[in-house]
Parts: sequence; C-alpha cells; structure tokens
Amino acid sequence: MQAIQIHGGTPLNGIIPISGSKNAALPLMTLCLLTNERFVLRNVPDLADINTMKSLLEQHGASIKTLEDKNSYELKVENLISSEAPYDLVRKMRASVLVLGPLLAKYGKAKVSLPGGCAIGTRPIDFHLKALETLGAEINLKSGYVEAKVPKHQGRLRGGHIVFPSITVGGTENAMMAASIAKGNTIIENAAREPEILDLANCLNLMGAKISGAGSSVIRIEGVEGLSGVNYSVLPDRIETGTYAIAAAITRGNLKLINTDPNLLEAVITALRISGVDIEVSDRSIDISTSRKIKGVDIQTEPYPGFPTDMQAQWMALMATADGAAMLTETIFENRFMHVPELVRFGANINVHGKSAIIRGSRDLSGAPVMATDLRASVSLVLLGLATHGTTIINRVYHLDRGYEGLEKKLESCGASIERISIK
Ligand code: EPZ
Repeated sequence: MQAIQIHGGTPLNGIIPISGSKNAALPLMTLCLLTNERFVLRNVPDLADINTMKSLLEQHGASIKTLEDKNSYELKVENLISSEAPYDLVRKMRASVLVLGPLLAKYGKAKVSLPGGCAIGTRPIDFHLKALETLGAEINLKSGYVEAKVPKHQGRLRGGHIVFPSITVGGTENAMMAASIAKGNTIIENAAREPEILDLANCLNLMGAKISGAGSSVIRIEGVEGLSGVNYSVLPDRIETGTYAIAAAITRGNLKLINTDPNLLEAVITALRISGVDIEVSDRSIDISTSRKIKGVDIQTEPYPGFPTDMQAQWMALMATADGAAMLTETIFENRFMHVPELVRFGANINVHGKSAIIRGSRDLSGAPVMATDLRASVSLVLLGLATHGTTIINRVYHLDRGYEGLEKKLESCGASIERISIK
C-alpha cells in the first residue's frame, strides 16, 4: 500500500503549472461517441479517472492513441462494439454515467450501471434520467442498470423543454450532449453554469452543434443531423488552481500558478483576499503571497459562480490555521465532512453541526498519521501536513491520484518535503 509522507512547516516558494481540468476532460472524452471522425483532445490531465474513462470508451469500441505528449489523445469510434457501461467501471468513477446521453443520441440505446453512492453522498442520477425521457428516451431500471432506448417508431431523440428541479452539473452535460443531435430544438432551464459546461458546449459547437447560452442557467440547443471531428484543448483545472492557491496561503509562502485562468475561480480568490492573502492576477497566471495574518472567513458552498463544494475541504484546512473562527456550510452534498475527524488529528478545533462546521483557528497544530477518504478531503490533509511542523503520513493516497496530476513533484519543486512511501 502506498502513503504520502510530509515533513511540514516550510513556506512554499516557486512556480506551479496547472493541468487541464479533470471535470472538463471527462465529459469532453465522451464526445468521441457522438462522431465517427477523428477526435483530438489536448491538455488532458494524466489521472486515474482519465484512465478509467479511457477503459470505458475502449470497451464501447473507441480506439485511443496517445499523441506527441502524454496529455494529448486521439479518440475514434468507427464502430460501436458495446452500448453497455459495466458496473465494475461505473462504480469506480461516477462520471461514467456521462456516456448515457451520447450513446442514446448516436446509437439509440444504452445500458449503464447505476453509479451507486460514493463517500460524499448518495448522488442519484434521477435528474439525468428525467431529462433524457423529456427528449423521448424510454428508461427502465433493471438489476442495478439503466436500460435506455429510443422507441423504434421515433428513430432518434427529439428536442424538448427540460427544467432541472435543482442544479446538476452531470445532468446538464448529459442533456446537452443528447440534445445536440436530437431532432428539433431543446431548452434546458436551471442549467448548471460551471465553466466545464461552457467548455463542453464550445467543443460541441466546433463539432457542428448549435448551442447557445451555455454558462448561463438557460441553454438553447438546435438539434443537428450529425457532428464532425475536432481538435480541442481542455480548459485549466480551477479546483487544482484553488488548491495550490491555498497551499501558498496555508504555508504563508509565495506561489505563482501558471497555465491557468483566474476568471474560473473568482469566488475563491475573493474569499482568499478577504482572509488577508495578497493575490495578483494576469490573464494566464495568479500570484499568491501572504504578508499578513490569515483571518477566519465564513463560507457557504454553492453552485457556480458561488464558492465551489470541491474547495470546501481545502478551505477548512486553511481556516484551521487562521487567527479567529470561521463557519463553513456545505449545501451541495449531504456527507462531505469526512475530512473533519482527520483534520482534528492535527489538533484542529472543528465542530460539525448538521450542514455546518465551526472552525477555531490555531497556529500550534502538528503533523499526524491520517486517512484519506475522498479526493478533495485527501488534498486537505496534504495542505495541513504542509503547514504544520512534524511528520504527516497520509494513507489511501489512491484518492489523490484520481484528481491531482504530479502532486508531489509540483509541491517538491516549491520547497515541500513530500514523498511517496510504501507501507504494509
Ligand atoms: C460534478 O459532479 C463534479 N464531478 C463534482 O466534482 C462536483 O462536486 C459536482 O459536480 C458539484 O459541482 C464531475 O464533474 C466529474 P451534480 P456531479 O450532479 O455532476 C444531486 C470532484 O471532486 N443530484 O451537480 O455528480 C447530487 O446528489 C467531484 O471532482 C441529484 O439529486 O454533481 C448532489 O447532491 C466530486 N440527482 C447535487 O445534486 C441527480 O440526478 C449536485 O450534483 C443529479 C444530482
């Protein structure tokens, strides 16, 4: 079993290149199912989840070639060999359900395992299924699988008026991909506004789709006959960017983050500035320095453009070292405080009351052996390990490998004492 060992207490100083967005690359990769032409994707992060998506697409019939650098791929589906997304792949990565919309739209059928819950919540896909039914799909749930098909007499999906009861990123992505080659026009209301949605719409439009309004809560789609291939670059990862911005702040260091876009995480930048962190931005980089005390700032997670739920654990780690108290409220997932007992092992003073946690900051925390529970929780342990004197050992690091490309290397290059070790 592998673990990460950190000797903390050193302020980070240096430059960190940001990778492509995991949560943009995953839906973008499924677009290869919507065309039979050459589909090239660049700036794809080298992550475990990306490899899982590659395996899923290959068993559908995609041929996937790595191009000149390890972050560019050519994906091509000349013939679909299976319209089934099996349980063993879907349960590993929930984003596998994103093949549902493309398979239904292009091939008229799909059999996708229900993802099952994950550490942070039950995470149903009822809104996805309702949206696809609105586009004319027949959906049946059988033995843990979604069996979806387009009725023969209908031929292909048809446009419809989708109103999501509450905001869903994946639901918006599935609906947008399915509607892109449906017959007729579709309106999606209460759509998610995340930058990854806009990135997906931009790529679809370059493939010949007719989508407008992506990035707002009303998306309009005029269905087209078919889509061509494309050569597209994934947008920067805003969560990785925010995570390393907090790494600078929590170690009271100075970092320059490059190959990123500060406009993707304005809520996080604003919260950091209110807490006393100095931040300078340019169109492709962010400079973070800390010259003053970090004070407690209350945060509530919200859909984009609000403070992202995927930054909640990282913010909690920073607040654990602040001067003063902060209240953190998680409104998106029902079980996203599993990092709390692990952060408390560093000596952090955190109390959870339902959807909120009160954090009373302290500067005399110390490193400890801790357990990663989910992707973003695991990186909050890295952050506090970097900030506190003593040795931190983080077990179950496979969670980290799902979402942070070259984490140790990027941190080591800025002065962190961090390495991967084998434990029994
Ligand atoms: C995406 O998940 C991200 N994953 C998540 O990032 C992110 O936390 C989440 O959006 C919210 O921003 C990817 O993009 C691959 P949702 P998704 O559908 O699409 C409920 C990470 O760490 N819901 O917006 O699954 C759901 O249970 C991951 O990178 C329904 O009830 O999230 C949740 O409470 C974690 N029914 C809320 O909506 C549905 O049909 C938001 O879920 C769908 C969702």
